[in-house]
Parts: sequence; C-alpha cells; structure tokens
Amino acid sequence: MRDVLVMGGNRYFGKRLIDRLIAAGDRVTVLNRGSAPAPAGAIHLVADRDDEDALNSALGDRTFDVVVDQVCYTPRQASIARRVFAGGRTRRYVMTSTVEVYEYEDSLVYEDTVVPVREDAVDPRTVAVDLQLPWQRREFLETHYGEGKRQAEAVLAADGTEFACTAVRVAHVLGGADDFTGRLDHYATRIRTSTPIAVPTENRPATYIHVEEIADFLFWAVGENFTGPVNAASHGLLTTEELCAAVAPHIPDGRTVFQNVDVGLVSPFSFSRSYGMDNSRATELGFKFGHVQEWLPRAVAETLGADKDKDTATDRGVADAGGGDVR
Ligand SMILES: NC(=O)c1ccc[n+]([C@@H]2O[C@H](COP(=O)([O-])OP(=O)(O)OC[C@H]3O[C@@H](n4cnc5c(N)ncnc54)[C@H](OP(=O)(O)O)[C@@H]3O)[C@@H](O)[C@H]2O)c1
Repeated sequence: MRDVLVMGGNRYFGKRLIDRLIAAGDRVTVLNRGSAPAPAGAIHLVADRDDEDALNSALGDRTFDVVVDQVCYTPRQASIARRVFAGGRTRRYVMTSTVEVYEYEDSLVYEDTVVPVREDAVDPRTVAVDLQLPWQRREFLETHYGEGKRQAEAVLAADGTEFACTAVRVAHVLGGADDFTGRLDHYATRIRTSTPIAVPTENRPATYIHVEEIADFLFWAVGENFTGPVNAASHGLLTTEELCAAVAPHIPDGRTVFQNVDVGLVSPFSFSRSYGMDNSRATELGFKFGHVQEWLPRAVAETLGADKDKDTATDRGVADAGGGDVR
C-alpha cells in the first residue's frame, strides 16, 4: 500500500485520480481548504497550501511515498512545498503543470510550425525565478498562468530539492459533466444563437486529453520513477473547426459562424501559435495514449449533456492572446 497525498483533489480530474488510487488500495490523503468533503476512504486535511505554517501543522508528522500537487501555480507555492516536503516527508513529487508553459515571448519560433513541442523546449532548470512578482494577486496570476507554472516547475527542478520531482504538462482537458471551465459551453452558446466565434486569422490546432485519460496518466505517474517534465496529451491534433463540428450535432437548430480577428479576444480553443505537444516521452516510458478523434464525441456529450441547463452557459473561457487554459 502506497501513502499518497493529493493537494487539491475535489474539483475535476483530481477527484478521478483519488478514485483510482483508492481502488488500487493506496492510503490517500487529500489536502485542500475544505470546500467539499473528501471522497469516502480518503483522509481529509484542511489547510491553505499558501500558508506554510498551516500546511506544516495540517501535515503533522505524516510522510508520503508520493505527493501529487494539483494546485501549484506559482514559484512561491513551489518554494513552500520544497521546504515543507523536505526532510523525508515524501520520496516523489508529481506537479500538475500545463501546456501553457510553452507559451512565452521567445516561443514565437513555433508560430509557423505544427511540429509538436517536446519537453526540452522549456527546460525548467534554465527558467529564471522571480519570487518578488505579485503572485498573490489574482489578476496578475490569471494573466501570468504559463509563467507561474514555468517558474513553479523551475523551483522544484532546481538543485537541492530533497525529493524526486516530475512536472506533468497537461494538454487542454475535455469531457465530464463536471467540466467547470465553460469552454465547450462557449461554443455551444454561439452555435445555438448563430453568434460569430472569434478565431485568429492564422488559427493553429492543439492537443487535448480526456478527463479520464489525464486521471489515468497521473495514476500511472504515481507508480513510476521518472523525473523532469513530461507531456500528457492524447494522440492527434484538433482544430477549432473540428471541435465545433463535434458540438454542432448537439444543437440541431444552431449554426456555426466563424469570425477572423487579428488582435484581441478569441474563443478559448483557438490559438495563433502551434499548441501541439509531442507525447513520445511518456509513450516511451510506457503510457498508452488514446486518440482525440476517438473520444471527442463522448467528451462533448458528457459536458453538453441533455440534462444541463443550456441557458445558464456564459462567456467564461474567452481567452486573449491566442487561446486559453484553465486555472
Ligand atoms: N482543465 C484543464 O484543461 C487543465 C489543463 C492543463 C492543466 N490543468 C491543471 O490542472 C490542475 C487542476 O486540476 P483539477 O481542476 O482537477 O483540480 P483538483 O485536483 O480538483 O483541485 C482543485 C481544488 O484545489 C483546492 N485548492 C485550490 N487552491 C488551494 C490552496 N491554496 N490550498 C489548498 N487547496 C487549494 C480547491 O478546493 P478548496 O477550495 O476546498 O481548497 C479546488 O477545488 C491545475 O494545476 C491546472 O493548472 C488543467
């Protein structure tokens, strides 16, 4: 039996990861601020992971084989984790990162290519860390999501970290009735009302992963020993047009209209630069990915399920600067 701590774990694929760990017979501890009860069978610790004293005191003298950190967004949070889990508190640390680490100023080199991005395009050991940036400010964090994740990865990858660490760079996640992001609803609402969907003039495809598949992936990563960044994305690329083609059958009277924009807000799954991740590292390590075209219809049906109140769909998920991700 492994002792596994999941930080977060009550919203989306964190819950599914916990289900898998419990089913496998692991002892699971969940740490969050207590907005929802922990799943049956898990030990629940309540603390804000931003508060180092509170985190230390909630953990007490517990030790873990593996920590899965689902909610590390900043180098400050990573620094706290690096200190708190030192001294033998964990052997291995799996940080949930994002495809958005690949979007930064100099990465425009990828703009004109659809060659999938490999992990070495962002080496966390070479990323500069600035703990003085206003990471505690919500608006700052929202506009520096990729930078926060990059710097968090860098803190954990730096020399001196006392546990083995991997950063799972997660593609855009689709599927599940509990997709809280509103990104598919963004398309559904526009198709229903024939409202134009804003896409960049040069609209690039991206990689995605199903919500169950990323839970499988993290569960698998818990049992492995690899370190360093690893991309997690299903095989295959998806364009905004293909995504809308999967949404449209759910809205028989709707109409899909695209509007090209050169500057400003675009729909959440539209990207002015290539957003495909190469998944060969994880494949070589032994994880078998599905193909996005195989699971896309199911994912859309789960999220736009008939029992959902379509009229409550909002514009959440509209993204600037060539596409959005989830926070
Ligand atoms: N969805 C996507 O498309 C996508 C793509 C790429 C990467 N990601 C990454 O996926 C991760 C999120 O996965 P998930 O949605 O499945 O999350 P999750 O594991 O369900 O965890 C989310 C929960 O963490 C808790 N939490 C948030 N801040 C906390 C804090 N300061 N201290 C303690 N607990 C805190 C919150 O519960 P309480 O309010 O109870 O604390 C929240 O509901 C993020 O790292 C995100 O960057 C997502």
